[in-house]
Amino acid sequence: MSAVEGQGHRFVDRVALITGGARGQGLAHAHRLADEGASVYISDVLQDEGELAAESLRGKGLDVHFHFLDVSDPGSWDDMFSVIKTGHGKLDVLVNNAGIINVAPIEKESLEAWTRILNVNLTGAFLGIQTMLPLLREADAAAVVNTSSIFGPSGAAGYAAYASSKAGLLGLTKVAALELASEGIRVNALVPGGVSTELNALEPDGGVVPETPMGRRADVSELAAAVAYLASSDASFVTGTELVVDGGFMTR
Ligand SMILES: NC(=O)c1ccc[n+]([C@@H]2O[C@H](COP(=O)([O-])OP(=O)(O)OC[C@H]3O[C@@H](n4cnc5c(N)ncnc54)[C@H](O)[C@@H]3O)[C@@H](O)[C@H]2O)c1
Repeated sequence: MSAVEGQGHRFVDRVALITGGARGQGLAHAHRLADEGASVYISDVLQDEGELAAESLRGKGLDVHFHFLDVSDPGSWDDMFSVIKTGHGKLDVLVNNAGIINVAPIEKESLEAWTRILNVNLTGAFLGIQTMLPLLREADAAAVVNTSSIFGPSGAAGYAAYASSKAGLLGLTKVAALELASEGIRVNALVPGGVSTELNALEPDGGVVPETPMGRRADVSELAAAVAYLASSDASFVTGTELVVDGGFMTR
């Protein structure tokens, strides 16, 4: 059964925000949650692409809107907060999905690139949880999903900044889960393996595919199904954990 065949209506009357939602996995998450009834905000630094993506989903009868958000900028998060507070007064699902990557051995990594990647991938998620907390508290049983990567737990030569940011996200996920559990807010991490998106389109030799037992990259819909599970009441007793969706990469 495909992800789409298995979907239900778990997000009716729910409001979701997906960062980095203009394309790739973020857009697939937006599509999936909206298909299941959510009102979705997709946010990104890619204004034109994001607006077109939201328009296209609205053309399918889905409730999806784009708003500019640079996750590394606290002021940008404040704007996003105001938009959702005015529009809905609560936030049920926050998916901290925005991410960037670079490849350089530690010896050659610039401080500028290191800082930029940490700011977007890790600080962006921290700011997201911190800023949106008052709106998450207004929801009945809010859920946060932070998109890590197999390179977080496994490490990867040449990816010091990226792997460190993704490992950091696993720590942030556990801390946020512990701090917010008593309020009924769940926080989990998605740990994707190789996924076919523009992020890794230029990777030589198929990236991690040769080391992936299933011998392929994931389709974005396979990650969206996992996010929908973590964000839904199906995962009502699941918090502080890591859902690995990697075709077997981490078992090697
Ligand atoms: N593609 C993979 O193989 C893979 C594997 C593991 C984890 N991931 C992670 O999955 C997430 C989604 O990536 P993707 O594969 O869809 O790639 P992608 O490049 O298509 O999507 C990333 C999105 O984040 C946006 N973004 C970048 N900087 C931003 C900022 N400062 N503020 C807001 N948005 C910003 C980009 O514009 C883009 O739309 C990322 O966190 C990535 O690290 C990807």
